[in-house]
Amino acid sequence: MSRVPQKLSAAILLAPALLAASVTAQAYETGDVILRAGAVAVDPQENSGKVKLDGTATDLEVGVDSNVQLGLTGTFMLSDKLGLGLLAATPFKHTINLNGVGELAEIKHLPPTLTLQYFPLGSGSALQPYVGAGLNYTTFFSEDFKSGPSAGGFNDLSLDDSWGLALEAGVDYMLTDNIVVNAAVWYADIDTEANFKVGDIPGKVSVDIDPYVYMVGLGYKF
Ligand code: NI
Repeated sequence: MSRVPQKLSAAILLAPALLAASVTAQAYETGDVILRAGAVAVDPQENSGKVKLDGTATDLEVGVDSNVQLGLTGTFMLSDKLGLGLLAATPFKHTINLNGVGELAEIKHLPPTLTLQYFPLGSGSALQPYVGAGLNYTTFFSEDFKSGPSAGGFNDLSLDDSWGLALEAGVDYMLTDNIVVNAAVWYADIDTEANFKVGDIPGKVSVDIDPYVYMVGLGYKF
């Protein structure tokens, strides 16, 4: 280290202080609102019950594929370390498969998720990792059987709405005083029961969808 020029040593010693000073203006403070937009993917980790027809269990189970949409998230800072977070998106569209048979139906859903977020680094950091916990509400709509199963007599599909726990982890990095890049992941406990008919025979199946939700995007701090 003896060969490091004195001015460089001074700069190295001063750098953390200068860095801290330069990012203080960028840090999150009470009342700040951060809005982010990006690509959001819902990746179901589904666990299906047996399809029941007229109350009798069959060997059939269902699967749910993943889907990507436009995601919108917001954080309202309650203090410099605590925020209220909301996840919203354009409607997700999933295909439901019947194991061993093929594509059965298509559904849409919206999974708004409200979390209390903790930003441990507080003021003075351009990097803002956070964790959150809260509630997910998922509402299903546009539930339709594919034409094949419809021809087979499947009709009248509806899925129960779901309330469940949601966990979240993410990171914002402030590129400027206002512009952030963001990556985030959620786990949401989404359980539903699908009710339908085959001809006049009532059928149902319980499914734990329990997806991971991933988002990358850009944000703006107001
Ligand atoms: Ni579940």
